[in-house]
Amino acid sequence: VKGGYDSFMRKEIHEQPTAVADTLRGRFDTRGQLMLDELRIPEAELRSIDKIIVIACGTAAYSGHVAKYAIEHWCRIPVEVELAHEFRYRDPIVGPRTLVVAISQSGETMDTLMAVRHAREQGARVLAICNTHGSTIPRESDAVLYTHAGPEVAVASTKAFLAQVAACYLLGLFLAQLRGTKFPDELRETVAALQALPDKIQRVIDTEPEIEEVARALADEESFLFLGRHVGYPVALEGALKLKEIAYIHAEGFAAGELKHGPIALIEEGQPVFVVVPSPRGRDSLHSKVVSNIQEVRARGARTLVIAEEGDDDVVPFADVIFRVPQTPVLLAPLVSVVPLQIFACALATAKGLDVDQPRNLAKSVTVE
Ligand code: M6R
Repeated sequence: VKGGYDSFMRKEIHEQPTAVADTLRGRFDTRGQLMLDELRIPEAELRSIDKIIVIACGTAAYSGHVAKYAIEHWCRIPVEVELAHEFRYRDPIVGPRTLVVAISQSGETMDTLMAVRHAREQGARVLAICNTHGSTIPRESDAVLYTHAGPEVAVASTKAFLAQVAACYLLGLFLAQLRGTKFPDELRETVAALQALPDKIQRVIDTEPEIEEVARALADEESFLFLGRHVGYPVALEGALKLKEIAYIHAEGFAAGELKHGPIALIEEGQPVFVVVPSPRGRDSLHSKVVSNIQEVRARGARTLVIAEEGDDDVVPFADVIFRVPQTPVLLAPLVSVVPLQIFACALATAKGLDVDQPRNLAKSVTVE
């Protein structure tokens, strides 16, 4: 059943290039134009959206967090990301021009379902991004964009996350195409780059043995910190969540800019810190700021585990370990940069002899509020 792998999680990590390719397949015409015919929301309505609210829980919410950066940039529509269980208790401002995007692998998460119902009662259009055909959340939504990751068995979400992020990109690119964008060239390049992503994800998976070796060496650590900025921030949060849920290790993700506002006090001799480094070809000075963060934590004794693009030599002097990922446009980077973190968590939990697929206290789909 596990196709020769020792866990479903590891199998599902290896299925990620296919999960992303299948989610993209059939959704572009030969000129690279998006065709999302399944979005049964009239185009006039999609053109008049003035706000998007993403509702989701756990890993699915982190995919929404990535979507916020991409959709706001490409479409200039404000995007809020809200944990579904908080949404209906805060009197959210929702109207007929709000598009609520509910992201759920299972389509059965009760917190997300209740938020969907609340949004529709308030007059919003609800689009589900879901991996499970015919499940409750898509049935109760106005439209659905299915991810095609295939069944995900391991409690810790991996391939569904990548497929959710890919689907969010499709939605953002589609809305930009429909409404016009200030960045037509960038959009064209992004479409091409997105289609090249499955091969790049595979290249990261091919580095699994090196990542596993590092994970085994760190199996007795009691705490890990994860830093990222921009789209690397939700990747850091996701890396921390993976370690918590399957390896039962205290792990926390931060936006790297927050370090000096408190978390840097946690750094002491030997503290392992993952840093997700943005592309050196990115906007503004983010790359150099994050490289400075690596330097700062290392100067205080941290052991630095750095996720950086191939060819980024600036990180070399400050990294104890470097996990390389292929170059990608900035907004698409989570599809490659999260993969070493998934592999790391899976390998570390396996090294500890834990049941990677069925961690204690957790269920695959949370059908109670
Ligand atoms: O099925 P859903 O995507 O709605 O599930 C949401 C979360 O419960 C889920 O992502 C959870 O955080 C995973 N166990 C994370 O690996």
